[in-house]
Amino acid sequence: MALDLDTLCVQAGYTPGNGEPRQIPIIQSTTFKYESSEAMGRLFDLEDSGYFYTRLQNPTNDMVAAKICALEGGTAGMLTSSGQAANFFALFNLCSCGDHIVCSSSIYGGTFNLISVTMAKMGIETTFVNPDCTEDELNAAFRPNTKCVFGETIANPALTVLNIELFAKCAHAHGVPLIVDNTFATPVNCRPGEWGADIVTHSTTKYMDGHGAGVGGAIVDMGKFDWMAHAEKFPGLTTPDDSYHGIVYAEKFGMGGAFITKCTAQLMRDFGSIQSPQNAFLLNLGLESLHVRMPRHCENGLAVASFLSSHDKIEKVSYPSLPGDRFYPMAQKYLPKGSCGVVSFEIKGGRPAAERFMKALKLAAIETHVADARTCCLCPAASTHRQMTDEQLAEAGVPAGMVRLSCGLESSADLISDLEQALAQA
Ligand SMILES: Cc1ncc(COP(=O)(O)O)c(C=O)c1O
Repeated sequence: MALDLDTLCVQAGYTPGNGEPRQIPIIQSTTFKYESSEAMGRLFDLEDSGYFYTRLQNPTNDMVAAKICALEGGTAGMLTSSGQAANFFALFNLCSCGDHIVCSSSIYGGTFNLISVTMAKMGIETTFVNPDCTEDELNAAFRPNTKCVFGETIANPALTVLNIELFAKCAHAHGVPLIVDNTFATPVNCRPGEWGADIVTHSTTKYMDGHGAGVGGAIVDMGKFDWMAHAEKFPGLTTPDDSYHGIVYAEKFGMGGAFITKCTAQLMRDFGSIQSPQNAFLLNLGLESLHVRMPRHCENGLAVASFLSSHDKIEKVSYPSLPGDRFYPMAQKYLPKGSCGVVSFEIKGGRPAAERFMKALKLAAIETHVADARTCCLCPAASTHRQMTDEQLAEAGVPAGMVRLSCGLESSADLISDLEQALAQA
């Protein structure tokens, strides 16, 4: 039976049998017992599926991964210890030394650093393109050694919206998959796979958890990319893996299972970035109300963005669901139900005004976090981008007076009153 997304949020991933726990069990065990070495050996050889060591897989994690997979409409999914690990694994599962990535320039700073600094040290180069670039500009970024394209549905903190359909079309024309980080939109507001994305990643730390309780990540494969049709580009998936007795992932697990099986069997085995089963349990609690919380985050985001856009102390507001925003048409296409609760804005008077304003806020707390039930805010120039001069900030598109406000689930009237009194003091 095909179920609505609302039902999947509540029930997907775990169906208890008669007399079994109604809530997903937390399997707090590093290891699993077997009757014979032969039985365990078959697991090591990927001949049977099952659990042997939680660094690779854990039943609690798999139930929650199955829910996220169902929400994104994918064929296989896995949890990771963080969103950073999810994006690294998704990219490194396809790329190795000497390869190349095409990436939207408008992405989370941590991912930008991962790709442009750390992965560059591994010999993986990247060409950055604007999230709303033309087809010609995008096509020009590809090289013969390009292995994937990466972007964020809604970028943190710029709040640009990725032209997913165009990015997918160009990626496929060059024989490579599109990876989309769907953290800010969540599958409630956008399912990138429906627009052509092949792999979807998440920092589950954000709206999926939604309560600031646990750091985590997820990867979902849509199962639509034909690795064998581009076999020469993806030898890791299409040629024998010596560490598993010559298994060819794309042959043994097909389009639906090869990517996640390789990612688990090789990268999780070797890097060990597993999510703790406790955190997976907490994440599942968050997922059970994701479809109820997201509309409220969006309602509060739009109310706050509308209020700020007509305030005389505000220079500029970025919010893709606000009419007049540069990305409004793109948001109407990909995010018709709403975008997210995060609003970026610039206060007249630069950094001192932004600092006075944030200090005066009573409900919104100053935090290095977004997408929480409680409203929080951050001035990038005074925190995450603190080492930059005002000139460097301007070049990076992060003006000194910029505030990133993550609207929680409180009443929008209270949030606006708080902003109003704080702006009076800015
Ligand atoms: C869009 C996006 N992707 C990935 C990450 C990294 O996630 P984590 O902090 O869970 O490692 C973040 C963190 O803010 C993010 O906003």
